[in-house]
Amino acid sequence: MERKWWHEKTAYQIYPKSFMDGNGDGIGDLKGITQKLDYLKGLGIGIVWISPIYRSPFVDQGYDISDYYGVDPVFGTMEDMDELLAEAKKRDIRIVMDLVVNHCSDRHEWFQKALKDPFGKYGDYFYIKEGKNGKPPCNWRSYFGGSVWERLPGYENLFYLHMFAKEQPDLNWENPELRQEIYRMIRWWLEKGIAGFRLDAIINIKKDLRFQDFPADRDDGLCAPAVMVRHAKGVHDFLREMKREAFAPYQAFTIGELFDFRPEEMELYIGKNGCFESIFDFSPHVLGGGEKGWYDRKPVTPDAFRNAVYESKRMSQSIGMMANIIENHDEPRGASRYLPEAGRNETGKKMLAGISLMTIGLPFLYQGQEIGMTNKRFRSIEEVDDINTLDEYQVTLGQGFDEAEALQIVAEMSRDNARTPMQWSSDLYAGFSKAVPWLRENDNYREINVAEQEGRADSVLSFYKKLIALRTDPVYTEAVVYGEQIPVLEEETNFIGFYRKGAEKTLLVLANYRKEKREVTISQAIKKVIIDNCEDRDCREHLIAKTGEGSRISMEGYQFLVVEVGN
Ligand code: GLC
Ligand code: CA
Repeated sequence: MERKWWHEKTAYQIYPKSFMDGNGDGIGDLKGITQKLDYLKGLGIGIVWISPIYRSPFVDQGYDISDYYGVDPVFGTMEDMDELLAEAKKRDIRIVMDLVVNHCSDRHEWFQKALKDPFGKYGDYFYIKEGKNGKPPCNWRSYFGGSVWERLPGYENLFYLHMFAKEQPDLNWENPELRQEIYRMIRWWLEKGIAGFRLDAIINIKKDLRFQDFPADRDDGLCAPAVMVRHAKGVHDFLREMKREAFAPYQAFTIGELFDFRPEEMELYIGKNGCFESIFDFSPHVLGGGEKGWYDRKPVTPDAFRNAVYESKRMSQSIGMMANIIENHDEPRGASRYLPEAGRNETGKKMLAGISLMTIGLPFLYQGQEIGMTNKRFRSIEEVDDINTLDEYQVTLGQGFDEAEALQIVAEMSRDNARTPMQWSSDLYAGFSKAVPWLRENDNYREINVAEQEGRADSVLSFYKKLIALRTDPVYTEAVVYGEQIPVLEEETNFIGFYRKGAEKTLLVLANYRKEKREVTISQAIKKVIIDNCEDRDCREHLIAKTGEGSRISMEGYQFLVVEVGN
């Protein structure tokens, strides 16, 4: 694998509305981010991805862009953006923006012009199609529920396509003029000095142009959008062109958000000939996904989690580096989702941190993960902002669940769990703002917050710092960043174990993913314990005993260890 500047970094995602409010209006903003750059630096962060800060009506919280060249006033001004870039540069932090080009907002000037003249130039920037006798052209379901087709106002039999909300019309990538507009915009931002982009819903830019029905998979008569994605051929032509025309001249860092791609096509996405530098590894996140909706989800077991991670690394590690996440702005909090009740404590959270950071890949933290923020308790559906959650609530009610049950079901998966204000301190509004936050903070901010954890050596935050520092520790970089990942002790259940084999050193990573203790035996001698999430606590009962050539290790429940072993 060819080495890249970003391989040894640790990245961090900021959800700007909820990170830090710099001007006291209850909404996070660019000035707030600039204020916290030292915090990020102290954590060891080298790359920051900021979710959209462009002009937007916020139907989908900024993923509906009405002007790609403008900063939305709630976040500040272009001067604030320039200041952020300059301050980040001083601290050797690279800024990555969100690139949302599968769709724009229905308020974007292109769409407004298309509405006025669907058969003119801008009509062809979108997918505007004739229906079948006043009915939509085909039966695809949008990601946020209902048909992907919306009737064009003023026309009986014309529809436009939206894979997400109806306020997010899809851009017609078949149109070369549109593509050039997008590349121009990308170059404009790169010219400004950003390091690159996270590419939103990027696999969706290619449609199955037959626009045909597929077999319905729910009683709404529609079929999942993923089915269309699987049938759409040729996305790589667009991606290659975009790379050539927009990213390559700037050596931009690009990271794709890709669902439903064919794993055997990994080489098309990452590595030497890939269209992107990296892609997120969503393999644990898609587990248990309900076919019919969130109500139909299955819990994710530790073994399923492990097998998914093993498998995606087996497929990818010789090709290129994927990015590891536990959570992001579209997922519930990892600590609530992946830890069984008994492990929902600092020990368990550190174990999850360890798994994510020691697994081969670029670690991507999501704001608040580093202090172990958890899902929030929703008091009522009125409290929910997220468009996706509101749709799933309706789907759940439609299945005969009552309101309380439906709320409980969607609360577990709601994207709002990740979007509550960052918990900086135990001050009012979690130290995020002086005003009432746009989304109510999690009740537990008095216990879980940065200020409390910063001064404490055994906090989750301190543990993250330790893990992050290991990536750039000259002694361990080779193993931690580049070392081959080889699973071990696969016959154990509720357990994760793997080697990271560097040129000179071999590390062994062990996670006892259950509350009961366990003993494992490995064939090498242990030279040194490098990371231990039970180190500073009373539970330091684990012992490492020599057994002939090898070692026997006794582990506490949810204990996580990184040890150096003989080669
Ligand atoms: C991506 C974003 C998500 C958004 C969707 C539509 O999945 O991460 O937040 O709703 O795309 O832009
Ligand atoms: Ca603000």
